[in-house]
Amino acid sequence: MASAQSLVSITDLYKEYKLGETTVHALRGVSLEIADGEFVAILGQSGSGKTTLLNMISALDIPTSGDVVVEGSVISSMKRDERTQFRRTSVGLVFQFYNLFSTLTALENVEIGIAMKIKDKKEMRERGLEYLELVGILDKADNYPSQMSGGEQQRVAIARGLAKEPPILVLDEPTGNLDAETSDVIWELLQKLNKKTGTTVITVTHQTSVSKVADRSVFLRSGQVYGISERDQEE
Ligand SMILES: Nc1ncnc2c1ncn2[C@@H]1O[C@H](COP(=O)(O)OP(=O)(O)OP(=O)(O)O)[C@@H](O)[C@H]1O
Ligand SMILES: [Mg+2]
Repeated sequence: MASAQSLVSITDLYKEYKLGETTVHALRGVSLEIADGEFVAILGQSGSGKTTLLNMISALDIPTSGDVVVEGSVISSMKRDERTQFRRTSVGLVFQFYNLFSTLTALENVEIGIAMKIKDKKEMRERGLEYLELVGILDKADNYPSQMSGGEQQRVAIARGLAKEPPILVLDEPTGNLDAETSDVIWELLQKLNKKTGTTVITVTHQTSVSKVADRSVFLRSGQVYGISERDQEE
């Protein structure tokens, strides 16, 4: 059945970084299946390989060995320009420090994210406004990043990642720069968007509170998966 199919299939993934004489083993045999529409959190100590794993899923980098298959495409063996194309169409990326353009308004920052996909100016504007509304900050459309709170800026970044309507939204510590209360607001928003749009959400975080909203939490240690837990049951 489509819903039970893996959108992301990771098999025996290794990533080594060479630094002069030494070799850093960032990933050591990670295998993981992520279903279409799932919300997965990746947790683990600093240096455990979280960002490295995200970079492989979003085709920002290639593994030393092993396979990453997304939507049936083997991205671990794609050429550089194929990977660029894959990122443009198939993944929305969100980072800890938002990465917004300071000289552009919230709406323009979202529009930048869809410029590759939508050429018509009016259509682009409508799509941008639609996604700002979806993340609850339509009233800030004309504000510059410096005129918004951290949580609001992160919402703009999430709207930008989602506006091109990618099958996967990939986030690296999206709440790493926010207080606990604002973080929970962002987690709840992501859960709502995941349910509403059906976009698969894969997020790296240090915050175990994510387990309240994620379908599964995957724990990394020294480049290996050492545990996976299902969502905390409320009530
Ligand atoms: N470009 C690189 N060159 C060399 N070593 C690297 C590189 N990127 C990451 N590493 C090393 O690989 C390991 C995993 O790094 P990674 O960035 O994936 O960790 P992380 O779990 O995201 O940590 P953090 O929570 O601090 O962001 C670390 O030992 C790190 O020093
Ligand atoms: Mg990291």
